[in-house]
Amino acid sequence: MKELINLIDKKLNEYMPVCYPEDIFKAMKYTLMLPGKRLRPVMCIETARLLGCETEKVLPAACALEMLHVQSLIHDDLPCMDNDDFRRGKPSNHKVFGEANAVLAGDALLTFAPQLIIEKSKELSSEQIVRIIHEYTKFAGAYGLIAGQVVDIESEGGKLVKSPEETLDFIHLNKTAVLFRLAVRMGVICANADKNTFDKFDTFATKFGLAFQIYDDIMDEISSFEELGKTIGKDKATGKLTYVSLYGMENAKNKFRGLIKECYDIIEEYHSEIFNEILEKLYKRISGEEE
Ligand code: IPE
Ligand code: IPE
Ligand code: MG
Ligand code: MG
Ligand code: MG
Repeated sequence: MKELINLIDKKLNEYMPVCYPEDIFKAMKYTLMLPGKRLRPVMCIETARLLGCETEKVLPAACALEMLHVQSLIHDDLPCMDNDDFRRGKPSNHKVFGEANAVLAGDALLTFAPQLIIEKSKELSSEQIVRIIHEYTKFAGAYGLIAGQVVDIESEGGKLVKSPEETLDFIHLNKTAVLFRLAVRMGVICANADKNTFDKFDTFATKFGLAFQIYDDIMDEISSFEELGKTIGKDKATGKLTYVSLYGMENAKNKFRGLIKECYDIIEEYHSEIFNEILEKLYKRISGEEE
């Protein structure tokens, strides 16, 4: 996994230029190159590899996905959204470059990512590229990530259109699970695998995404700045609708563990060291068994 993360970091650095006007490229590159877990590109590349596709083929799409994720983080931290001063252990993008540049850096990453897929995916067919761009646009916009973020922010005031349970599921599926779904779906497309495989990985990623956001909500209450690299305790302070606030800590942990076990069952047949490592690490952290 470490080697794969190093390769992703190298490629991200290579793909992201710094040219005139430098203010924008520096802002884009700042949060991108800070040490994130790189879970989404790792899962994209691993899915493709398990299905027989070489890493080289999928690297542009995987790196584009990390750019989309970083865009969501930069905007998520803005004062008009979660108002967070730290990200990945360092001051948030707007703290370093100002709000205007942080908004623009997010916008620029959102559009640079599909440009990168089109320009650098030399080994994919035109049909594969069109399918990947379709997936990207569907999940990055108002049918996906943005829908989740809008309802997440709305939920702070407690004014909900649907029941709290339905609202929470909608938020988690859209703001978080969609990027993991996008990761595996792009990986499956790069490998040209069949519809059954596509659906299997999609179900896996949906469950993983839900588990991951419950994990993040739990960590917001029990972890530290040193471990997470971001301010903790914010969800409670701002009255966010989270799995912990709605169902309580023990139920949240149980729901998380149940979802991770379902993920294991779906992916078991592939004997993937990387997927197993990711699932195990999260599971052990929540169960207090980490080394
Ligand atoms: C943070 O994602 C946003 C959520 C969906 C909770 P990560 O925890 O994957 O953030 P990085 O990429 O490691 O910084
Ligand atoms: C994660 O929600 C979703 C996105 C960033 C799109 P959070 O607001 O909980 O993420 P963190 O905790 O700030 O990383
Ligand atoms: Mg948020
Ligand atoms: Mg946030
Ligand atoms: Mg959070």
